[in-house]
Amino acid sequence: MRKKIVAGNWKMNKTLDEAKALLSEVVNMIKDEVIETSNRGDVTVVICPPSIYLTTSRQYIPSGGRIMLGAQNCHEKESGAYTGDVSASMLKSVGVEYIIVGHSERRQYFGETNAQLAEKVDRVLENGLVPIFCCGESLDLRENGDYVGFVKGQLTDSLFHLSAEALANVVVAYEPIWAIGTGLTASSAQAQEMHFEIRQHIASKYGDAVAQDISILYGGSANEKNAADLFAQPDVDGGLIGGASLKSREFTNVIKAR
Ligand code: 13P
Repeated sequence: MRKKIVAGNWKMNKTLDEAKALLSEVVNMIKDEVIETSNRGDVTVVICPPSIYLTTSRQYIPSGGRIMLGAQNCHEKESGAYTGDVSASMLKSVGVEYIIVGHSERRQYFGETNAQLAEKVDRVLENGLVPIFCCGESLDLRENGDYVGFVKGQLTDSLFHLSAEALANVVVAYEPIWAIGTGLTASSAQAQEMHFEIRQHIASKYGDAVAQDISILYGGSANEKNAADLFAQPDVDGGLIGGASLKSREFTNVIKAR
């Protein structure tokens, strides 16, 4: 079912003490203001701290509620001699429920390929977890190229080997690279255009019913000021939030904008 989701990607930020403080503030604010006392109780919140803090973070997040624990990445193999890495099953074993796959920073700095990401998606799904599959074009493509075709290609290469049943468990995040951490947000119209194209592309392979059920999140300089406009678009089902997820008040305001 198409869900409203706001996910916070902390990236490589915070010490353990800072992470604990941020998490307890966010959990309390969400409990007090978002879920129990407003009509926003239908939003799923995913918090993705650095992997070293996941075990501790699990203790701060009430199980069975609307706040989910997410990881920022996993390896494409189930286990083995991959020094320094973690697998989807390891993440599952510490209580992770969602895993970000194919963030543009992983593609750019770690050379992750569409084929490798297809394997990661498989591992995440095999473990019964939800992949948040990231796609998005560079500034150069946005200005000079077929950016819609490029993003469609990312989806085709990394997701279209899945059955319709498997795809139904995937969340897509559209994150234009030119908008990440730059303060340059896609306009609501630009976001809607791409989200519509993504949904159409999924429909072309899996049919309209499947496409309508997929949650597509927007990411890239989303914050408490622009979130309401972005989230009001018919094909924008929520956000993948970077910088603005590092401050409890701002992140909670973004959730409330959904
Ligand atoms: P910012 O919100 O900091 O632009 O980051 C977006 C992002 O990359 C989330 O995964």
